[in-house]
Amino acid sequence: MAVNDFIQSNKDRFLNELIDLLKIPSVSADPKFKDDVFKAADFVKESLIKAGADVAEICQTAGYPIVYGEKIVDPSLPTVLVYGHYDVQPADPYELWDSPPFEPVIKKTKIHPEGAIFARGSADDKGQFYMHVKAFEAMMASGELPCNVKFMIEGEEEVGSDNLDKFVIKNKEKLKSDVILISDTHMISMKDPSITVGLRGMAYMEVEVTGPNRDLHSGTYGGAVANPINILCKMIASLKDENEHITIPGFYDKVQELTAEQRGRLNEAPFDLKEYEEKLDVDTVFGEKGYTTIERVGIRPTLDVNGIWGGYIGEGAKTVLPSKAYAKISMRLVPDQDWHEIAQLFEDHFKSIAPAGVKVKVKSHHGGSPAVVSDTSVGYKAAEAAMEETFGKKPIPTREGGSIPIVALFQKELGSDPILYGFGLDTDALHSPNEHYGVQNYFMGIETIAAFFRHFKALSDQ
Ligand code: BES
Ligand code: MN
Ligand code: MN
Repeated sequence: MAVNDFIQSNKDRFLNELIDLLKIPSVSADPKFKDDVFKAADFVKESLIKAGADVAEICQTAGYPIVYGEKIVDPSLPTVLVYGHYDVQPADPYELWDSPPFEPVIKKTKIHPEGAIFARGSADDKGQFYMHVKAFEAMMASGELPCNVKFMIEGEEEVGSDNLDKFVIKNKEKLKSDVILISDTHMISMKDPSITVGLRGMAYMEVEVTGPNRDLHSGTYGGAVANPINILCKMIASLKDENEHITIPGFYDKVQELTAEQRGRLNEAPFDLKEYEEKLDVDTVFGEKGYTTIERVGIRPTLDVNGIWGGYIGEGAKTVLPSKAYAKISMRLVPDQDWHEIAQLFEDHFKSIAPAGVKVKVKSHHGGSPAVVSDTSVGYKAAEAAMEETFGKKPIPTREGGSIPIVALFQKELGSDPILYGFGLDTDALHSPNEHYGVQNYFMGIETIAAFFRHFKALSDQ
């Protein structure tokens, strides 16, 4: 096929262009990188034009822009909408990277014997959305673009997509499509391709516990006044019982319980517990009693402290009874939990368990809805057929623990179940030091996406 020949003969260029994009530190969370985030948006726009888009525009929002592009071959053909994000997570702590996060290098690893690109955003999500740009270019160049295509690439995914809702609601006509493709998730492995059909939602909270009105001498006052750090630790510890079950009243009320059959099918996915433990260097996994690891991340909600601080943390020892203690606490949610409701339940409960002697403040950061998408839609069937063609194996539907809040938004506002067509691996170290993306994953993704367009067109004609 001409499209595959084009991909084969342009591999070096496809890789070098991605490397150029990865050099832009488009960290949306840190205002220090503001100019770079805008620069990345321009890069995306230019790359869409070069690939053959009729329209490529920077759509300003109250925050970072959304890049929109399209190529309408013929209005009577099916239309594919691609969503992705050009912003990345902060690279901190820099000292834990083996090479600088914004100076991409290709290195061979055990899992990627043919090499992986090491850089912040390589897998999440620059390397993944850029596969769509390159697949589009290859289909254009070889005269084999069987569907219309639209791109919506945003710059605020890692900070909660605050301005995307408005854009989607305002531009329903512009974004009209027959299927939505998102490559921002994982596969089980190169040997076991999979398609994600479930993502968890999220409610992200911050708490502040105040004891005395100022830091005190811990000898003069210690034992006589509530220490907010001690109290905060006790309060947090009480949020889960001995079975790792969350104790917030009402927390599980709307959790969908799966049937034994559904759970059985989920657990059929290839999963090596020993290997999982070894890769993380833990002697055993840990989690809610009565559920497997696949279930604990895929279909069960959880609660985690992401950061905790207060008191003296400098060199040496300072004897101090701190005035304040803080923690950032996130809850991953599953259908049909509502993140606004859960945030409220958390706030009410957390305040109710505060002992006399401290004051508690609770604040809600961003959140997002969980989502489950169809594994029987025309889009899913096409995605399955394309993967079977390129990987030689029928992909397994999986449910992942991460969150992409816009999936539920697309379902609600555009009435469409996105295809979560990720080609990364869970060992790619998303959000961690040494994030990387397999070179093979990148090219297999490009080929598979091109195959998807062909299968989607064929299945839509039936
Ligand atoms: N690409 C991830 C989501 C993801 C990762 C899904 C791995 C499935 C497997 C996305 O960029 C992300 O990091 N989402 C955030 C949520 C967001 C609201 C900050 C997350 O999951 O923490
Ligand atoms: Mn992502
Ligand atoms: Mn991310």
